[in-house]
Amino acid sequence: MATDGLFGDDLVSQEVAAQLPDGYRVRSLRSTDFATGFLDCLRVLTTVGDITEAAFVERYEFFAKQSGTYFVLVIEDASGKVVGTGALVVERKFIHNLGIVGHIEDIAVAKDQQGKKLGLRIIQALDFIAEKVGCYKTILDCSEANEGFYVKCGFRRAGLEMAHYY
Ligand code: ACO
Repeated sequence: MATDGLFGDDLVSQEVAAQLPDGYRVRSLRSTDFATGFLDCLRVLTTVGDITEAAFVERYEFFAKQSGTYFVLVIEDASGKVVGTGALVVERKFIHNLGIVGHIEDIAVAKDQQGKKLGLRIIQALDFIAEKVGCYKTILDCSEANEGFYVKCGFRRAGLEMAHYY
């Protein structure tokens, strides 16, 4: 079982790392993050469900096998607890000369840690990965309530989200 992360430190922005509060760290998700508060952090965003450690590790290993596709990062506080997370999913296309598009997903900052720029740092760290792996753009869906946050992160409104639920 790989425990050192979905991606290497070369994809972790040192500029972002340097701007975190003292003792905080930005790094790849690891298979051992079942025990560090990662899922609780995601519960700030939406329903996570009652996931066992085995199921968590199975999904992590699926991500790890899709080389260059799933980049889930976390911010941990000085005690090693996960207090923020975000994901970049990298989609390879035929159009735009075999273009590569980044999708930002599942951004969450623990309630008691919001307002410290951790959300902004997560987006900046995901932007760094997107540029490094060759994305020509990064897109995301969000609620109207979060539009202001993403505008502060440099995004602008483009297009319209539609959905089929199954
Ligand atoms: N509306 C307008 N501005 C906002 C909002 C908002 N909802 N949230 C933060 N901001 C502003 C801040 O005031 C700050 O502005 P400043 O630079 O002028 O001071 C700037 O955006 C950066 O804010 P951060 O401190 O980095 O924000 P935070 O760490 O609190 O993270 C986040 C923001 C991720 C939205 C957090 O509140 C959160 O986890 N919310 C619950 C989960 C959620 O909604 N996640 C996003 C789902 S969309 C997706 O995943 C693609």
